[in-house]
Amino acid sequence: MESPSASNPSDALLGRDLLSSADLSATETQELLILAAELKAGRRSIDLGGKVLGLIFSKASTRTRVSFTVAMARLGGQTLDLNPSVTQVGRGEPIADTARVLSRYCDALAIRTFAQAELAEYAHWSSIPVINALTDLEHPCQALADYLTLAERFATADDGRLDLDRLQGLTLAYVGDGNNVAHSLMLCGALLGVNVRIGCPVGFEPNAAVLEQSRRLAAARGSEVAVLHAPVAAVRGAHALYTDVWASMGQEEEKAERQRAFAGWCLNEELVAEADPSAIVLHCLPAYRGLEISAGVIEGSASRVFDQAENRLHAQQALLAALLGG
Ligand code: CP
Ligand code: NVA
Repeated sequence: MESPSASNPSDALLGRDLLSSADLSATETQELLILAAELKAGRRSIDLGGKVLGLIFSKASTRTRVSFTVAMARLGGQTLDLNPSVTQVGRGEPIADTARVLSRYCDALAIRTFAQAELAEYAHWSSIPVINALTDLEHPCQALADYLTLAERFATADDGRLDLDRLQGLTLAYVGDGNNVAHSLMLCGALLGVNVRIGCPVGFEPNAAVLEQSRRLAAARGSEVAVLHAPVAAVRGAHALYTDVWASMGQEEEKAERQRAFAGWCLNEELVAEADPSAIVLHCLPAYRGLEISAGVIEGSASRVFDQAENRLHAQQALLAALLGG
């Protein structure tokens, strides 16, 4: 596959939804990362001319909410907080009505909720782009920022621009729960030709359908998606080590049980020593030091977690520009 070199995303993304990482083609994913890097470097500026993004968040959020708000402000648009507790959604107004009404006021919706089906229902009834700002199944905006961070480390050419062909054949090892973040990493990594290994205890594997889909996408790029049940085997020789919370939002009651099941799966100094010496450490945040990641590793020299968090802003600016046509 030929990599895009231009810094313009094709018009193909205009007006589309992003419900899953797999809603983007390999080329579209690359174009977004390149545009994000250009925006970050100040080589491009985009004007969204007063466009309005509605934020419908049924779960807590620091990074996603703030990065979307700042992204829209920097692009000359604005956001509206449509938290269900302050709208009629929280009192049971049907999604079909809410989505059609909001489509008359807003230019796009970013939605954080539990069921992917609820997000899909919003997308079905909306005539404006709907963006997945995290569901129980996926977190595609996170994955864009994560692979931008990987590309900055391993796929930057001498002129400072991204050369995404260099991602081909790198290995990202995710250790922990086979959750929403893992799913989007698998799909997006597969599109970029990155080998993705998921290391998890038995019973915490990624969703079987997402695994199959990511393996199909990976095969087209000559890379692999693997699931392993031993932490050292999962991280050995990897170029990026990634982890996330063991109990996601909505799983609070399983916290104690999950801590027992994940004993031995902390991303600590011993595991980092098994990776490639140039490996970087990633975490979507929020992080629990001493559980899924050690304090030494998250604060250590390989950690890129705050660059990664910053990259949410740049990746989402690129996404908004592509969907809204700045
Ligand atoms: N990583 C991430 O999505 O963080 P928030 O939950 O704070 O948005
Ligand atoms: N897997 C976590 C990600 C938080 C950004 C959750 O869903 O809570």
